[in-house]
Amino acid sequence: MTAQDLIGTARALVADDKGLLAMDESTPTCNRRFATLRIPQTEETRRAYRELIVTTPGLGKCISGAILYDETIRQRKRDGTPFAQAIASAGIIPGIKVDTGAKDMAGHPGEKITEGLDGLRERLAEYSRMGARFAKWRAVIALGAGIPSQGCIEANAQALARYAALCQEVGMVPVVEPEVLMDGDHTMEQCRHVTEGVLRTVFAQLSAQRVVLEGMILKPNMVLPGLACPRQETVDEVADATVSRLLRVVPAAVPGIAFLSGGQSGELASARLNAMNVRFKSHLPWAVAFSYARAIQQPSLEIWGGEEPHVPAAQRALYHRAACNRSARRGEYAAAMESNVGATGIPQLTRPAA
Ligand code: 13P
Repeated sequence: MTAQDLIGTARALVADDKGLLAMDESTPTCNRRFATLRIPQTEETRRAYRELIVTTPGLGKCISGAILYDETIRQRKRDGTPFAQAIASAGIIPGIKVDTGAKDMAGHPGEKITEGLDGLRERLAEYSRMGARFAKWRAVIALGAGIPSQGCIEANAQALARYAALCQEVGMVPVVEPEVLMDGDHTMEQCRHVTEGVLRTVFAQLSAQRVVLEGMILKPNMVLPGLACPRQETVDEVADATVSRLLRVVPAAVPGIAFLSGGQSGELASARLNAMNVRFKSHLPWAVAFSYARAIQQPSLEIWGGEEPHVPAAQRALYHRAACNRSARRGEYAAAMESNVGATGIPQLTRPAA
């Protein structure tokens, strides 16, 4: 594995206006989402749900890479095909979440530090043998009274950089995810300030740990007001605030930015991504893509509800959201796609005559 292979994988993850599908919910998170919909929380239901995702017809037309979880990468389709192999056969690059979760940070009430560095070199080698070509690590930064602290930002940024360096050592592309959370009543301006500080610290640490910027993907939050903030900016205002801030702090050598959705609705996540590409795509140094979990999966999960007969409809819903986000990368997403889904799940947009 050479640096060129690494760079080739990173570029492939954001090529052709596709994006990433995060299907790496940890077992507790997956169970929590199942419980809300009264879906039984067993290893078999989690497997069946992931089989629904990886067998969705045409998914590889919109999705470049899929992020698996430790349980999932060890699971198989009913016909015995390992999920990583099924994904690769669909033209999608298999990836894996490798952090072991965000834990309460000592001495920092209300803040978290993401763990998982111990034994990571060996785990990465195993995942690589299982077919994973990229990996994800998520750090979470909360906003509130007196937080985030510099100590929390620095500790998380250093862990992200150490993880990224270990990934590149084994030839896997690190997807570096520092997430400034949407929870709370903070303003978009506060989110913008914190996001800029976090990203500056993350890139300083990536540089200190000698991470090859050309061989990584950044997975940040959009710059958004808190969910409980009374003032909610327009789609265009969010696009402007997000891109203007990222332009200041993300080096041009990074091939792509793939946003997390963070609890936005599927429609808003598509509309905001679309606005960034409509307004700025032609003069940005990096691709502006997506790496959504809930904003792609949620309608599909609700339709499935744990019921086998609902699988085809759930797959159409999954494909629909993936296709909307591919359209958003092209700046061609329109709200009309949401009410006009054909029997194939493919948005039927009639473009106005030029
Ligand atoms: P959401 O898009 O649901 O925020 O998930 C993205 C992700 O991978 C979180 O780590």
